[in-house]
Amino acid sequence: MRFQAPRGTNDVLPADSHRWIGLESVFRELTSLYGYREIRTPMFEDTELFVRSAGETSDIVSKEMYDFQDKGGRNITLKPEGTAPAIRALVEHNLCPPGAVVRLSYVTPIFRYDRPQKGRYRQSHQFGFELVGSASAEADAEVIELTIRFYERIGIDGAKALINSLGREECRRAYRQALLAYAEPKLIGESEEFLAKVRRNPLRLLDSKDANIQEMLEEAPKVTNFLEVESWQRFEALQTLLTDAGIPFEVDSGIVRGLDYYTETVFEVLTDKLGAQSALCGGGRYDDMVKEFGGPPTPCVGVAMGVERALLVLEQIGKAAPIPNLGAYVVRATPDAAKAVHGLARELHAAGISCIFDLDGRSIKSQLGQADKSGARFALILGTDELSSNTVQLRDLATSAQAEEPRVGIVDLLRSRL
Ligand code: HAM
Repeated sequence: MRFQAPRGTNDVLPADSHRWIGLESVFRELTSLYGYREIRTPMFEDTELFVRSAGETSDIVSKEMYDFQDKGGRNITLKPEGTAPAIRALVEHNLCPPGAVVRLSYVTPIFRYDRPQKGRYRQSHQFGFELVGSASAEADAEVIELTIRFYERIGIDGAKALINSLGREECRRAYRQALLAYAEPKLIGESEEFLAKVRRNPLRLLDSKDANIQEMLEEAPKVTNFLEVESWQRFEALQTLLTDAGIPFEVDSGIVRGLDYYTETVFEVLTDKLGAQSALCGGGRYDDMVKEFGGPPTPCVGVAMGVERALLVLEQIGKAAPIPNLGAYVVRATPDAAKAVHGLARELHAAGISCIFDLDGRSIKSQLGQADKSGARFALILGTDELSSNTVQLRDLATSAQAEEPRVGIVDLLRSRL
């Protein structure tokens, strides 16, 4: 019986894992420069956590959750996003007492039962960070700036943030009513299920990928026309801060996000390199979540960036990092050199030079073939002759040039050539 990875999931194979590790280390280095500390939360949570935060009309809760009852009858969901779990942990462990500002980051798989396609998977991965405790436009600007800096660092140039403001609750309520009043007469013929969802939250219309709905929405009222004075001022302050920081952005009133927890600022970074899955990342402000989870009122803003999507874009623009080479393959030319091969490999490892050697007594020809396949830069060959003359044959595997070198100092010589 042969098995396959479940539909919508991917194995990260050894030929690709260095790309993941590379992005992870850029993400960790950059977020720590900005003062973020990593939080790790369980792969599954109480289902209610996501229903309460993402909202019942969101696609995530209404169709995509990997939910089940465990053997104790608890309703459990594999996390479809990282924000609600991070904030649940923050409240549970009282990490952000009133007046404090806390910066959290995470690297996590997420699970969404969606139709798999390029850039959309049932298990995917996110780099996320959440800035908790500040309601200022500076906090929004920090999150957006850090997001753009991440894409710059990994080599995705020209990333532009599309920003919008959803205002406060009263603004959103008035906007939802206006949008519904505009759209409802134009939705005749849509399924009852769709209409019911739209009536419960008309903002969901704006996430629709349906071309007819997109066209119908061209003349729809814009949320920015409903903003209260304070929200409008905040939104303008954010734009000034982004301009000062040299962050490319555009106001786009179509950005409303697919999760219900957002308040005021929302943003996405889109790319034309991913076909239908154009969002590289998405985020925004969600000032009500801490309170919803039983904590004191605490403003929050954050973002999550799709790892697979960043990797796909890097591949498309020809910036996929090449697989790192091994430094050396140590070849045992004659059986009596086994101990010397082990000793040299040990010295190389101790010096931080990657190397491997044959474990199975292969012929010298076969070992050199393995050395080529391994991608090593050099072969170091030891046999009876080298043992008696205290030398090593140093073979450049790219050019096949070979020279006899003194055994003493071979590690330093190799280091200088790598
Ligand atoms: P989201 O927009 O649902 O937001 O997801 C953020 C990013 O995760 C997307 O832009 C995309 O790059 C990636 N992503 C999501 N679903 C998939 C999928 N099925 N396959 C591949 N990539 C995917 C959130 O998750 C919020 N928690 C973001 C946030 C953080 N808001 C505030 N703080």
